[in-house]
Amino acid sequence: MANIIVVGAQWGDEGKGKVVDCLTEKANVVARYQGGHNAGHTVVIGNEQFILHLIPSGILHKEKLCVMGNGLVIFPEALIEEIEELRKRKVEVGDNLKVSKNAHMIMPYHAIMDGIKESKKGDKKIGTTGRGIGPAYADKIARSGIRISDLYWPELFKEKITNNLVEINFLLKNLYNEEPLDAVAIYDTYMRYAQALAQHVDDTDVIIDNAIKAGKQILFEGAQGTMLDIDHGTYPYVTSSSACAGGAMTGLGVGPKTIDEVLGVVKAYTTRVGGGPFPTELENNVGELLREKGGEYGATTGRARRCGWLDLVVLRHAVRVNGLTGLIITKLDILDGFDKIDVCVSYKYKGKILNDFPKELPVLEACEPLYEQFDGWTESSSNVQSFAKLPKNARAYLKMIEEKLGVPIVIISTGKTRDDIIYLKDFQTTR
Ligand code: IMP
Repeated sequence: MANIIVVGAQWGDEGKGKVVDCLTEKANVVARYQGGHNAGHTVVIGNEQFILHLIPSGILHKEKLCVMGNGLVIFPEALIEEIEELRKRKVEVGDNLKVSKNAHMIMPYHAIMDGIKESKKGDKKIGTTGRGIGPAYADKIARSGIRISDLYWPELFKEKITNNLVEINFLLKNLYNEEPLDAVAIYDTYMRYAQALAQHVDDTDVIIDNAIKAGKQILFEGAQGTMLDIDHGTYPYVTSSSACAGGAMTGLGVGPKTIDEVLGVVKAYTTRVGGGPFPTELENNVGELLREKGGEYGATTGRARRCGWLDLVVLRHAVRVNGLTGLIITKLDILDGFDKIDVCVSYKYKGKILNDFPKELPVLEACEPLYEQFDGWTESSSNVQSFAKLPKNARAYLKMIEEKLGVPIVIISTGKTRDDIIYLKDFQTTR
């Protein structure tokens, strides 16, 4: 298989977990490049369902190497729990999981700060998962972050927590009226984490480089999605990492020439969880129907996802900022049975037609989506395993997406399990 980046093309929850699981069969290494335990990737194998938050879903395949890159922020307790849960369910997690020494850690104060800051935002709440993601990335950029490798330098680690707590405890006490945190208690807890994770911590950039030199194929797994990217998303209603394809380079320490394909995962309609603008949102019974049929409830927080029609302005943006070479369409079957299907082709702002996603929040918030309407289909597209067997109007819907975006559809997912998939390209290695 070629070296492929898989990235969410909308606001996350496009079904990347299942797709990555299927593509892993053809890869040797699966490497995740950003985010933390805010993500939730659902994979169904036979009658079993796995929800992974941190570990790449490639772990569910034997003999594949899974890498968690330097671009992640890792709450060690969540990672250890995930490892233990997988082991309980007889999934091997040993030398097949490597964690970057340079990944930053989520510290107890990050989740506290996340909660406090969010609670002060009134009606401008981002709807964070409250996992401490934003504050951990903020510390990384402010150069006061604590990395996984620091766990193995106890004196240095203690000094870093103690220094960070000077400011944190001042804020907690004086600004937020909260109890201060104890450096020794945090130190002791994290030393236990250090032991539990030691086997996995490594120089992941070197591991990936060696794998590439040995002709191995790498699958780069993104979490969240393009519109939640810190630079290219609907800022400030975004997550705090580089969810776009560029994040794979910095988040794992590989060069752009390593990549053969950038595949955007596109849900056949649109969802978003949390606050922020969403032009094609349907706050009516159609949105409700999409939510119920699609089981649109968060894998991490259980929150109901906001639902709406497919938005080609969003997807045009995703094609551009990721350099998408192929599209993966998921959850097509959720549109089965709709008489008519609307697709947003552009926005209208103060009488002007916008084809490109606007950068300014006030413009975006005032945009009206302009729709084209397509005929739906009554036949089931669920579990269909060849393009020719899809309902005629479903094929027309897919062709329309390809034509309007100028990017080929390379995979169609038609259900939850590994068999419910149509490959339109074989991804043989080009190297
Ligand atoms: P945070 O990443 O927890 O700071 O949350 C920031 C925004 O990103 C919120 O709107 C979350 O709902 C959203 N978000 C974070 N992770 C995911 C995800 O995996 N899927 C969908 N939305 C997410």
